[in-house]
Amino acid sequence: MQFSNNRNNPFAKPPGSIVAGLDIGSSKVCCFIARISNTNRLNVIGIGHYEARGIKNGNIVDMELAEISVGHAVQLAEQMAGQTIDSVVVNVSGIHAHSHTTTSKVSVTGSEVNESDVRKSLIQSRECEVSGQNELIHTIPVSYAMDNIKGISNPLGMIGKQLSTTIHGVTAASNALKNLRTCIANNHLEIEAFCAAPYASALSCLVEDEIDLGCTLIDMGAGTTSIAVFLEGKLVYVDAIAVGGSHVTSDIARGLTTPLNHAERLKTLYGSAIQSPRDEMETIEVPQTGEEDRFAPNYMPRSLLTGIIQPRLEETFEMVRARLDASGYINVVGRRVVLTGGASQLQGLTELGTLILNKQIRIASPIKISGLAEATSGPAFSCASGLLHYSANRMNEVPNIIIPVMTPGNFVSRLGSWLKENW
Ligand SMILES: Nc1ncnc2c1ncn2[C@@H]1O[C@H](COP(=O)(O)OP(=O)(O)OP(=O)(O)O)[C@@H](O)[C@H]1O
Ligand SMILES: [Mg+2]
Repeated sequence: MQFSNNRNNPFAKPPGSIVAGLDIGSSKVCCFIARISNTNRLNVIGIGHYEARGIKNGNIVDMELAEISVGHAVQLAEQMAGQTIDSVVVNVSGIHAHSHTTTSKVSVTGSEVNESDVRKSLIQSRECEVSGQNELIHTIPVSYAMDNIKGISNPLGMIGKQLSTTIHGVTAASNALKNLRTCIANNHLEIEAFCAAPYASALSCLVEDEIDLGCTLIDMGAGTTSIAVFLEGKLVYVDAIAVGGSHVTSDIARGLTTPLNHAERLKTLYGSAIQSPRDEMETIEVPQTGEEDRFAPNYMPRSLLTGIIQPRLEETFEMVRARLDASGYINVVGRRVVLTGGASQLQGLTELGTLILNKQIRIASPIKISGLAEATSGPAFSCASGLLHYSANRMNEVPNIIIPVMTPGNFVSRLGSWLKENW
């Protein structure tokens, strides 16, 4: 069940609505503003991005600097859009996001399941174990079961005694959320919702078949590599490791004793994730730290550069594989892996990933969106673009929206008619 056709999604915002996403990454802060078109497409009308300062490996480490970066990115996007925004969907780094699957059981009140049973069951299952240090950011109904019959997609009207609902709840560290709230509030913006970064990236670059048939998305950013696993159309797992492209750059800077800016340049121009026999023959110019103005240039074989990059990326993929192994999803999710994020652009990455993960890999950029300039349509902008999709279509997965189901008539009645129409 997907939301490609928004006419069938009661949570989709109507045409003409303005949505805004703020991706606070380790290397850049990026704000996208879009208008939903008459055909329910996202049309980007404002883009702002700015160097991320005060943010390290997905953590705000200097509030003042982070606030300035956010302020600049939002202001640039507003200028381009020609209008101001008052709320944004904000990413939560995968480092802080954790998956919990809970199943609740409720007794069916009448002879068949009615909306109130579904509501009770949803409320109960969202009470997954959330310790004082964590808050729920997503609650995604994954499946229903009636008595002993599993795999029910729409429980409404089913005959039985006991309804079980399985929810995938994503929690995030309260402290990290508090820091994000402060940073955004000090920029006079409200937070419409939080969205786990790899989930947002997946929403922007996976095709419907990948989501339906099962797929793993890996967002390779500057300070983090994060994972989102989809099964039968639902997000079932998120995770992350605090290693990304900036670690590759620092390895190069250390290994070749070159300044960071040169290491970054060498990586993007000549870097490769996999050794090739030609690397021995090719030479690259490597300015030495403290000797950048030296008259005689310093040359090294390209193989030295690849020899630094490859082990770091092998280790990264091995860590990802270990997380997927531990999640229990590695064998059930199918062979498709989609790589995105700025660091996914390194030459040879698909080959290396295929060797280590033993999956079929493609590199992806945002799709299902218009108005992105060439410079902002690459893999580094998947998360920002996905935040717009989340805001436009998936507000029903925000726990705060599920909470008001206590008062009859809003979410549940919408949920009821939606279930009837779509499942
Ligand atoms: N052509 C390229 N080849 C290899 N790496 C690249 C290339 N272009 C950008 N990168 C790397 O991509 C990384 C930035 O990616 P991205 O913008 O997705 O990160 P981020 O969202 O700011 O960080 P994070 O998601 O980890 O918080 C940097 O480490 C940069 O070196
Ligand atoms: Mg990112």
